[in-house]
Amino acid sequence: MQRRTTLARFCAAAATLAVSASLHAQETIKIGLLLPMTGQQASTGRQIDAAVKLYMAQNGNMVAGKKVEIIVKDDAAEPNNTRRLAQELIVNDKVVALAGFGITPTAMATAPIATQSKTPMVVMAAATSAITEASPFVVRTSFTLPQAAVSIAEWANQNKIKKVVTLVSDYAPGIDAEKYFADRIVLNGGTVVDKLRTPLRAPDFAPVLQKVRDASPEALFVFLPSGQGAAFMKQFAERGLDKAGIRLIGTGDITDDDQLNDMGDVALGVVTSHHYSANHKSPANEKFVAAFKKANNNMRPNFMGVGGYDGIRVIMEGLKASKGVGGEALLAAMKGQIFESPRGPVLIDAQTRDVVQDIYIRKVEKVGGELHNVEFDVQKAVKDPGKSK
Ligand code: PHB
Repeated sequence: MQRRTTLARFCAAAATLAVSASLHAQETIKIGLLLPMTGQQASTGRQIDAAVKLYMAQNGNMVAGKKVEIIVKDDAAEPNNTRRLAQELIVNDKVVALAGFGITPTAMATAPIATQSKTPMVVMAAATSAITEASPFVVRTSFTLPQAAVSIAEWANQNKIKKVVTLVSDYAPGIDAEKYFADRIVLNGGTVVDKLRTPLRAPDFAPVLQKVRDASPEALFVFLPSGQGAAFMKQFAERGLDKAGIRLIGTGDITDDDQLNDMGDVALGVVTSHHYSANHKSPANEKFVAAFKKANNNMRPNFMGVGGYDGIRVIMEGLKASKGVGGEALLAAMKGQIFESPRGPVLIDAQTRDVVQDIYIRKVEKVGGELHNVEFDVQKAVKDPGKSK
């Protein structure tokens, strides 16, 4: 009898513990952050991770009386890893949202899982136009290559640049950049004399740079994913192309703020179009850059960092509105958000779930002894041209 009472008490206690553990679990809202923390794209992971941590430190981690926990997983920019980790985060950790996605293939691999599980998926980095169409649960806070590429093509036309060569990384965002840049150049009466591509993994710029020299265009347009700009600039200079009268232009990925200061004088005068420069003049950005550098051993935020900072903002504000509920309620609360980002004004288009933002034309200049992308022109509220097909 005595033993049975003890056993009954134990069972009751265990049951109480189990209930309180599950209550406790429900008190935590989890967000899965899938990032390339190692490998060729590691600078993207480092930037986004730092930016998300900064946002949480500045704004607190409580929503609807519950603690928000961010679970960071390293996918090393391998789509198979991303897909597997996304499944684990949904099934085991019961995350309310997935976020990150350093390159297009990792975002594309995860989109069907977001659809099946009705889990919102916030793309903070990848920038191929079609990603938002791969799942109705995708929301994007980075940019699109068509957004950036059309603006620099317009600038080239205004500056009487007619004969160009394009050089892009040979995968989806590169194909977007090449197409939208080249189409606009041709529309404005210019000529694209060669279209060159380099592999995403271990690119070798030597053979393509020789072709650029042979074609002797007025300008070379380049898109390379964040992290490859410095190596490219070095070879561009080593081959004397900077002295051969060929203007280097591109999307801002090649003058990435994370690496720009190490690129040296070859980068001076390079004109690019992009949605973010660490040098952007606004009180919101000056505050962001100072806080980011302070928290990260003086590392300068780049466009990936700002995509992460704004992405976690969109999720946290969405969760506040949905009272901590994920799924379709969270998705609905993310659509249509308007806010002042360090990059300038931003809208999450409720129809396309893509980011509408200002695109700046910038030139690399020395400011206070450091290289910066100095903005000198702007196109306001640019929607992704890839959506108007
Ligand atoms: C992409 O894979 O979509 C991507 C990666 C890095 C960039 C831009 C686009 O800088």
